[in-house]
Amino acid sequence: MSRFYTIYFSPTGTTRRCVASFCRGYGADPDASIHLADDFNAPFPALAPEDAVVVAVPVYGGRLPVQVADALVRLHGNRAIAIAMVVYGNRDYDDALLELTDLLHSNHFRMAGAGAFIGQHSIFPEVAASRPDLSDEQKLIEFGRACKAAVSNGFEADNVPFIKGKRPYKKAAGAPLHPKAKKSDCVACGRCATKCPVGAIPADAPYLTDTTKCISCGRCITVCPEGARHHSGVAYSLAGALFKAAFSKRKEPEWVVAK
Ligand SMILES: Cc1cc2nc3c(=O)[nH]c(=O)nc-3n(C[C@H](O)[C@H](O)[C@H](O)COP(=O)(O)O)c2cc1C
Ligand code: SF4
Ligand code: SF4
Repeated sequence: MSRFYTIYFSPTGTTRRCVASFCRGYGADPDASIHLADDFNAPFPALAPEDAVVVAVPVYGGRLPVQVADALVRLHGNRAIAIAMVVYGNRDYDDALLELTDLLHSNHFRMAGAGAFIGQHSIFPEVAASRPDLSDEQKLIEFGRACKAAVSNGFEADNVPFIKGKRPYKKAAGAPLHPKAKKSDCVACGRCATKCPVGAIPADAPYLTDTTKCISCGRCITVCPEGARHHSGVAYSLAGALFKAAFSKRKEPEWVVAK
């Protein structure tokens, strides 16, 4: 019996939403879902050639987040089917989809499809605000249906379709912007410290952020029940205004499916 899995990293939830819409089009509920933001060392399922996996990752600096790429090295394909998905904040996905596809291909997956979709920017939420929207959702469903059809029809395993990007990939770079908590709004519930995927928030002083560890993923902002965590400061406001001016023109999803 074939099994269907989703593996994703989604600190602020847009990648997870894209995966859910894809699954509607693919016509299957996952047998298991692994969220790497909860644990980069989470065990992966042992895969058989008839199994299928959707791997979905947000784009950071035109690449995969380093911790995600490192975790995915442990995912052995054993000739199972993979669908690669990246989600980006309307600037560009640069080499991220190529990097993810290369990684899965070299881990012995058969690539059925690859797509780049747009989600609200997790550092500058005025850019691509509320995406994926209804139109994105329909396209994700369409992509899911196309992948399902490729799998049902039996696609050429090593005929990986053209994917945008260059090798060697662009240099990975972290964002210099890190969220902070307003101490007077923080009730010290500890939720942000527990949920931070890289342990950048001290449990005994959760209004602080260790900027040497923080990857700017925004999960602490999303999970704080008091709305105490924010990006702030002059550098952030200035960068936000420039970013919004440069990258607000709507981009549309792109995908390829194996034949
Ligand atoms: C550190 C960092 C770097 C990012 N780099 C890019 C980028 O290069 N291009 C882009 O369009 N969006 C970029 N984004 C935006 C995210 O890719 C986008 O908001 C994505 O939808 C977040 O996924 P999530 O909601 O699942 O966390 C970046 C976000 C972060 C936190
Ligand atoms: S402290 Fe940094 S790495 Fe941790 S959840 Fe917040 S933004 Fe993400
Ligand atoms: S989640 Fe919010 S309220 Fe709770 S410890 Fe973190 S900053 Fe404070």
